[in-house]
Amino acid sequence: MGERTGSTKRKLIDLFKETEDYLSGQWLADTLSVSRTAVWKNIKELEKEGFLFEVVKKKGYKLVGTSPGISPASIQSTLNTKEIGRTFYHFTEVKSTQEKIHTMAKEGYPNGTVALADEQTAGKGRMKRDWNSLKGKGIWMSLLLRPSIPPQKAPQLTLVAATSIVNVLQASGIEATVKWPNDLMIGDRKVCGILTEMRAEQDSIDYLALGIGLNVNQSLEDMPVELERKATSLYMETGEERVISEIVTELLNRLEYELNRYFELGFSPFQEEWGKIGYKVGQWVSVSTWGEPWRAKIDRMEADGALMVLDSSGREHQLYSAEILW
Ligand code: BTN
Repeated sequence: MGERTGSTKRKLIDLFKETEDYLSGQWLADTLSVSRTAVWKNIKELEKEGFLFEVVKKKGYKLVGTSPGISPASIQSTLNTKEIGRTFYHFTEVKSTQEKIHTMAKEGYPNGTVALADEQTAGKGRMKRDWNSLKGKGIWMSLLLRPSIPPQKAPQLTLVAATSIVNVLQASGIEATVKWPNDLMIGDRKVCGILTEMRAEQDSIDYLALGIGLNVNQSLEDMPVELERKATSLYMETGEERVISEIVTELLNRLEYELNRYFELGFSPFQEEWGKIGYKVGQWVSVSTWGEPWRAKIDRMEADGALMVLDSSGREHQLYSAEILW
């Protein structure tokens, strides 16, 4: 149900963007093979998300403004989750949603709390790198998770999250792969990064802050020069702008589904699936383990989330912390 509404909204936006004219409710209903009530409902939802329409009697609707913001109300009304996203905070501007989640975790917010921002002024990536988070151009979101698993299994959750994102993209016809440990790639360009931070005791996790940065509507001009050849967005790949809140809903729904699958069945299904969605599995890559980069052939993922690679003499190496360069 949610999916059908979603795709009608997308199709409506596409139709409005193709013309400067008014489009009548009847024409839109016929063109999209939906009822006039469905057209009206979808337009109302789009309005909540920041699209502006002019309505003139006997002529119909005209799209006069697009500032597709994020509407927590519309996100929550289309969520079919029990916990993920049920406590939901939307910020217009924050330093970093990760920071927000750390604060909320300490204040006792529940498992599944989400912090989403239109813009981050100090978005952070892995290894103290900056994360470019332009206003309204992507999904800048962190989740608070309180899983009952031992701390050493926490990296597995990064892969569970990555699998969820790959599946959501695949559902809209975009093929992405997972570059170990936490990047999503389209071809050889990064479209999404995941940052998992943890507070734990010796044998139990207090909480995880799982940050997701997904590039959605950036054009090449929006990319900083140093990322032009390395990064991409869904828009750059498909030429289609997307409604951020729609992807957020799909992502949260899928995340809860995959997390439940993980808690029920363990990591082995994800480990196995990684063989299909892993970036450059079976291929030679350049790996940095913080010294000189070296050539390695990606073999498989281990049960604990480690990456198994072979060096040029055929010797196996188990990597827990490394970066695949190219
Ligand atoms: C990486 O690839 O290095 C990880 C990038 C993670 C970026 C996201 S955006 C939402 C959340 N808030 C942050 O400051 N970082 C993560």
